[in-house]
Amino acid sequence: MKIKNVVVIGSGTMGSGIAAHLCNANIPVTLLDLKTEISENARERIHKSRPPLLIDKSKIKNIKVGNIEDDFSVVEQADWVVEAVVERIDIKHQIYEKIFKSRKDGAIVSSNTSSIPIKVLSQNLNKEQKKDFCITHFFNPVRYMGLLEIVKNEDNDLNKINQLKEFCELELGKGAIVCNDTPGFLGNRVGVYAMQIAMTEAFKMKLSVEEADAIFGRPMGIPKTGVFGLYDLIGIDLMADVLKSFIKELPETDEFHEVAKEIPLVKKLIETGYTGRKGKGGFYRMKKTDSGKVMEAINLQSGDYSLSKKIDIKSDKVDLKGLINRNDKYGEYAWSVLEKIIKYASSLVPEITKEFNDIDEAMRLGFNWAKGPFEMLEEIGVKNFFEKVENFKGNNFLESLSKTKNENFYGERQKYTSIETLGKVKKTATSVDGNSSASIYRFNDYNIVEFTTKANALDYDSMDALKKATDKPLIIINESMQFSAGVNLTYTMEFADKNDFKSIEKFIKYFQETCKHLKYSKHPVISAPSGLTLGGGFEVLVQSNFVASHTNIVIGLVETIVGLIPAGGGCKEMLARWLDTEEAKKDSNYAPLKVFDIIGYGKTATSPVEAEPLKYLLPENKKIMNRNSLLEVSKKILDENKDFKAPNELKFNLPGKAVIGEMNKILEKLYNDKIILDHGVEVAKELAFVLSGGDTTMDKVLTEDDLFRLELDAFMRLIETKNTQDRIKHTLATGKPLVN
Ligand code: NAI
Repeated sequence: MKIKNVVVIGSGTMGSGIAAHLCNANIPVTLLDLKTEISENARERIHKSRPPLLIDKSKIKNIKVGNIEDDFSVVEQADWVVEAVVERIDIKHQIYEKIFKSRKDGAIVSSNTSSIPIKVLSQNLNKEQKKDFCITHFFNPVRYMGLLEIVKNEDNDLNKINQLKEFCELELGKGAIVCNDTPGFLGNRVGVYAMQIAMTEAFKMKLSVEEADAIFGRPMGIPKTGVFGLYDLIGIDLMADVLKSFIKELPETDEFHEVAKEIPLVKKLIETGYTGRKGKGGFYRMKKTDSGKVMEAINLQSGDYSLSKKIDIKSDKVDLKGLINRNDKYGEYAWSVLEKIIKYASSLVPEITKEFNDIDEAMRLGFNWAKGPFEMLEEIGVKNFFEKVENFKGNNFLESLSKTKNENFYGERQKYTSIETLGKVKKTATSVDGNSSASIYRFNDYNIVEFTTKANALDYDSMDALKKATDKPLIIINESMQFSAGVNLTYTMEFADKNDFKSIEKFIKYFQETCKHLKYSKHPVISAPSGLTLGGGFEVLVQSNFVASHTNIVIGLVETIVGLIPAGGGCKEMLARWLDTEEAKKDSNYAPLKVFDIIGYGKTATSPVEAEPLKYLLPENKKIMNRNSLLEVSKKILDENKDFKAPNELKFNLPGKAVIGEMNKILEKLYNDKIILDHGVEVAKELAFVLSGGDTTMDKVLTEDDLFRLELDAFMRLIETKNTQDRIKHTLATGKPLVN
């Protein structure tokens, strides 16, 4: 059966997220809720959501809304009915009764429950109804979280489950993993346990919340919110409910009981309204002071708040071995947490799944971990692990591995999908070269470059890897969350602090040279971005010959925000794109002014649909819902371009002084209206200089190298100013730009 029409019941957080995502996939969807709740509010929430749930906000009206009293007849037309109402079994049962009276023959009915077993949900259904009933457990926010757990019951029509899985993979872009009916399924069972272990061990070892988050975060390949930050984000009260449901469902012998015991401080936080970010604060809170807001953190022993301290553990990379071998409390904490997570996850095999790889992939897709527990074990090394681990009696998986000590126990990855993913290919590709900032793989007749730094920030080594890899057709792609957040500013500032501007100039020149090389080398280069694609990351993309973009991207040139201008070809390429328009043919000022506006404001787009009007992406660039498919699509582009020829170099006819006058007028107004201050004007003037073609007149035709030169000179003048350096330092220290 083809799914062409969907009804979602319950328009809260999850229901509206699911409806918005169906709208993203151009599937007709109706969202129903109680009469009092009228789902019109849901439309407004979807419209305002941050990060945006819709790829294209103008399509919001495609989500039809209604209430379950007046509009329930829409269920008769639906091929799939998703129930996403409150987590109450009595309410869910009433709704199923109503749905099964109205649904058309064979329509799929599923629940988004996160904790109620399918055998309980379906207990009032007859055999025929059970055939079409399952759990589809989406993660929040639906557009962005890759994981979808599909839980089947023993009476299911397996064909239909497979069709649903395929639909959710191909149309909705989800990593759809079919799981057994066990409490918390895969993701939450292991993910919530991991959070509890990270929290309880921090209490036991008397670590501060900042220390625990600094370890149980980036160095472990876990999102930087860490454990306490994540607790605040999810809601401390909500987590308490989740724990209660686990305790109710799991047998007393399950290790979970040990880590889910009530903690007095946590209880007190909930009782006093400190439920996390949505409440008065949580483990962290913002406090207003005379000089603005400051972040405070709670003392886990006393319950008092004090100014939050940045913990520098002197490791920016995911390095599990390095971490667990440290001779300090951080090493001790890291090992204790990792050991317990690996022990717990492996104790669940084969009970919750016979494919341990599914647990790892669920942790990647549902919790954004860089590696799941079994890959962590592989990275630590089997021998190493067994030298350190204590007491794993009764854990069949570990007992058998301890006998074979097989370092290569892992085998294939991403078994849940038939797509040829980067994860699968990396396992069999040859690692041909690489450095500390990027890896180069050779697979069949093409190369893959994967950036490997924090947020994939680019430095000299990243460029070196790209350059080396152009000896074959090249796909630039990665598994981590961001394609690239831009040039590595920490690296750049290290030179600036030593007044070594020559080295900065050398790096930018090399950046330019590499990007030019990507564009004109004889083999095609494809960028396949997902996540942040900003500044230098965008410059790599825009100078690739082809683009296959995930629909979840944040793309743009944001250099002006830190007092710089794009100098890796960003100004040049944006000019070229805007010069290639009908308007530009009629008005020579049109293109420079457009780009001045886009780069000047550091505009970003949060989807390909928003990126096209800015020309950050072009209509011919591929846009893909399923991140797993990026490699296959890129590979197909290579196959279709076997006779690829590098493009001709661009020439630029720019108006020079004539447009600078116009730009100055704009700046004057912004300055008088106090929208920009002195340094903002200085940055914008440098941008104006580059985009006008420098101090030229109309008749001089500029080459790409001329524009690179203009970008470089302007960039160097700016980075040498104290104002720009202060801006960069502020951004690096706080993660936020300096306003004005
Ligand atoms: P929510 O509280 O945001 O929304 C629930 C919605 O159901 C409300 O709009 C409410 O008016 C509506 N509702 C209640 N009774 C109804 C009825 N008889 N008919 C129609 N609508 C009715 O809840 P949320 O967070 O969206 O959760 C929904 C389901 O998704 C629950 O089963 C929850 O366990 C599950 N879930 C929640 C996640 C989350 O992060 N919030 C993640 C994954 C699953």
